[in-house]
Formats: sequence, C-alpha cells, structure tokens
Amino acid sequence: MSAFYREKVLSVQHWTDTLFSFKATRDSGFRFQNGQFAMIGLEVEGRPLLRAYSMASANHEEELEFFSIKVADGPLTSRLQRIKQGDTILVGRKATGTLITDNLIPGDRLLLLSTGTGLAPFASLIKDPEVYERFEKIVLVHGCRHVNELAFGEQLVATLTEDELFGPLLSEKLSYYPTVTREPFRNRGRITDLITSEQLFNDIGQKPLNVEGDRIMMCGSPAMLEELKQMFEARAFTEGNHTEPGHFVIEKAFVER
Ligand code: A2P
Repeated sequence: MSAFYREKVLSVQHWTDTLFSFKATRDSGFRFQNGQFAMIGLEVEGRPLLRAYSMASANHEEELEFFSIKVADGPLTSRLQRIKQGDTILVGRKATGTLITDNLIPGDRLLLLSTGTGLAPFASLIKDPEVYERFEKIVLVHGCRHVNELAFGEQLVATLTEDELFGPLLSEKLSYYPTVTREPFRNRGRITDLITSEQLFNDIGQKPLNVEGDRIMMCGSPAMLEELKQMFEARAFTEGNHTEPGHFVIEKAFVER
C-alpha cells in the first residue's frame, strides 16, 4: 500500500500574489481530527515532494481544503501554486498535530491565535460542532501584514455565518478578530501587543486573559509563537501535548524558504 492517497484537485482560488487555497477529493479512508496536518504535495520527476499542511476543511466534510503560501523559488509551492482542477496531489495517509481540543484542559473560552496561513487549522476547528459544545466563547484572531491577506478567513466566516447549522453557533459564541500591521484597518497591531494591552478583549467586549478559563491554540510565524509562549508561561499557563493536556498548544505554520 502506498504511503499516499492520490487525490484530484477540484478547485483553486488565488487570494493574493502570495496566498492561495485549493480543494481536493478525499479518500473515504483518510481520517483526521480537526486541527491536524498531513504531508501533502506533488509527484516531481517520479518522486514525492511533500510539506506539512494543516487541513482547512473539517473532518465531517467530503472534500479536503488547504490554504497555502506561494514562494517563487520554493521547491513545492512554486509548483503547487500552478495546480489546476483535475490535477493530482499526494496526501499522506497519516494525519497528526497538537492543535486538537483533547490536548487542552477544559475551559470556558478558546483563543485561536494565528498569523498568515496559520489560520488553516482554525478554519477546520471553527467548523467542528464539538468545539462549540466544549467552549462558551471562541475568539479567532488572524494577524496579517496587509488587508488583502485576510480574505480567505473573511470569506470563511461570512460563509459559516450564513450556514443553517453554524450561523446560530457563530453568532452566539464566535468572535472573529482580523488584525493588520502594515496598513490602515479597523483592527491594527500585532497579536502579542493586542493581548498585552488588553485591546483585543476591550474591542470584543470580553473579560481579560485569565488562566482559569482561557485555553489557547496558536499557529503562525515562529517569532510570534515564541513570544506568545513566553508571555503565557509568565502568566502560569502551561503547554499541553498528547500525553498531558495543558492551557495552550502550539503549531508552526507551514513555512517554505
Ligand atoms: P509585522 O508586520 O509587525 O512584522 P509574517 O508575514 O512576517 O509572517 O507576519 C505575519 C504577521 O505576524 C504580521 O502582521 C507580523 O507583524 C506579525 N508578526 C511577526 N512577528 C511577530 C511577533 N514576534 N509577534 C507578533 N506578531 C508578529
């Protein structure tokens, strides 16, 4: 048995010069938990060329979805950004990753903190009805340099808001907080600063960060993850993993240099 499923690309959407997303068929045997990633890629000169990608689709959905950067000289993304409907992609059979709710101690508010394509695992998690059962409030923060980089997340939230099942859950529980650092926008600044200054919580009209109730998942720029980890640890939050759940869990977003 091959280590990969061969899936067909169903659609591709280009969001900016550096961001695109695509949907692909999903083998009925491919199982994953919302928030996890798999190795995906292309066959190049007869060999698999793969990188870790979080599923942006939820595990109840029939199709797979991925959200990717484009790097002009990146071995995989320089090719992957040219895929078209009907092309074949490889999807590793085994999904893994720490951004799963079982790795968190029960709490009442879930903070999903992301930059760039680090949004992808949270796109999956906000389509998981169980997440809304476990938490009273969910705060989805997406930080980008420019406004146009927010489009994938904005469209996702808009679509879910219109959805029969998720619409009521979102309006009761989800606060979506996009923020931009390098041009004017209604929310501005780095996620680290927005938490330290409490501006995030003031803007959404919720209580400040507290270790009793807040559980955190973060995915994105390695520099941000490092700073957030230190910040949360200084406030007595502990990191969770598969063997011991904690107050926060971390995953680096896929990076191709
Ligand atoms: P900034 O524009 O101030 O660098 P990148 O595209 O470099 O991955 O960055 C994505 C977003 O993450 C940008 O808004 C960027 O802000 C922000 N960012 C980068 N480094 C950090 C950090 N150490 N802490 C918080 N946010 C960061």
